[in-house]
Amino acid sequence: MKQKIDEPAAGTRPQGVQDETEAARRVREMFGAIAPRYDFLNHLLSFSSDRWWRWRAIRRVRHVLRPGARALDICCGTGDLTFAIEREARREAGGQLEIYGGDFVHGMLVRAREKAAQKKSQAQFVAVDALRLPFAAQAFDLIAVAFGFRNLANYRAGIDEFLRVLRPGGVLAILEFSEPPGRKFGRLYGFYFEKILPVIGGLVSGSRQAYGYLPASVARFPSPENLASSLQSAGFKNVRFERWMGGVVALHIAERPVPNRIQE
Ligand SMILES: C[S@@+](CC[C@H](N)C(=O)[O-])C[C@H]1O[C@@H](n2cnc3c(N)ncnc32)[C@H](O)[C@@H]1O
Repeated sequence: MKQKIDEPAAGTRPQGVQDETEAARRVREMFGAIAPRYDFLNHLLSFSSDRWWRWRAIRRVRHVLRPGARALDICCGTGDLTFAIEREARREAGGQLEIYGGDFVHGMLVRAREKAAQKKSQAQFVAVDALRLPFAAQAFDLIAVAFGFRNLANYRAGIDEFLRVLRPGGVLAILEFSEPPGRKFGRLYGFYFEKILPVIGGLVSGSRQAYGYLPASVARFPSPENLASSLQSAGFKNVRFERWMGGVVALHIAERPVPNRIQE
């Protein structure tokens, strides 16, 4: 039976895990195990839609990619969203940006750095925990996260940390899997996502656990409406979301408010 969690402080809880520290440890372990086959499986299991989703997400926030801007792709995995930001930045700002990709799994960062070298990317890939970012307050114009937010062990702590490191007027973009609201499509997609995907993912990656965790974590993840209200209540403004491909994924965009000028 699916259990939706809507309390803002909740975070992911892989099967059998009760507390936050253990959840983070298990997430790390799972992504470490699948890192070598992660890209291949992403493209295979999403029929290559994942590339288009990331590209489209960054197109939605490209207005912040001005010369001199700083962007962080958090939970960057092997860096595909980081590279999408960099591509868009080249168009918007002639590449005059500082771009970071951050993740807490070494194997993912190794692959990201290999890809960066092949692509002659200027992005810097750093080992960081999204819940304790080693960056100064107001350091970034853009924080983007693709398919990573759901895996945080504490959603509210993640949102607060993103708010802290965004400058006033800065933008947060969260791209995440979601459950399609339509009943017919939902059933069809549910069959693929819960029955077929874990088998293929498990066989190819060698980790049945990681690809069983994927649908389970999406089922537990707050609905787009609830995530939007968590962002709002944490202090973000202009919070909005779009569902794509019948609701299989959702993109949330939110802004850190600019404080009102003190009246003289
Ligand atoms: C599903 S992958 C997404 C990777 C990439 N963003 C993409 O679009 O393919 C989720 C990533 O989130 C990372 N992650 C989960 N919790 C994290 C945390 N607290 N801090 C940093 N990275 C985290 C995992 O290591 C993993 O690489």
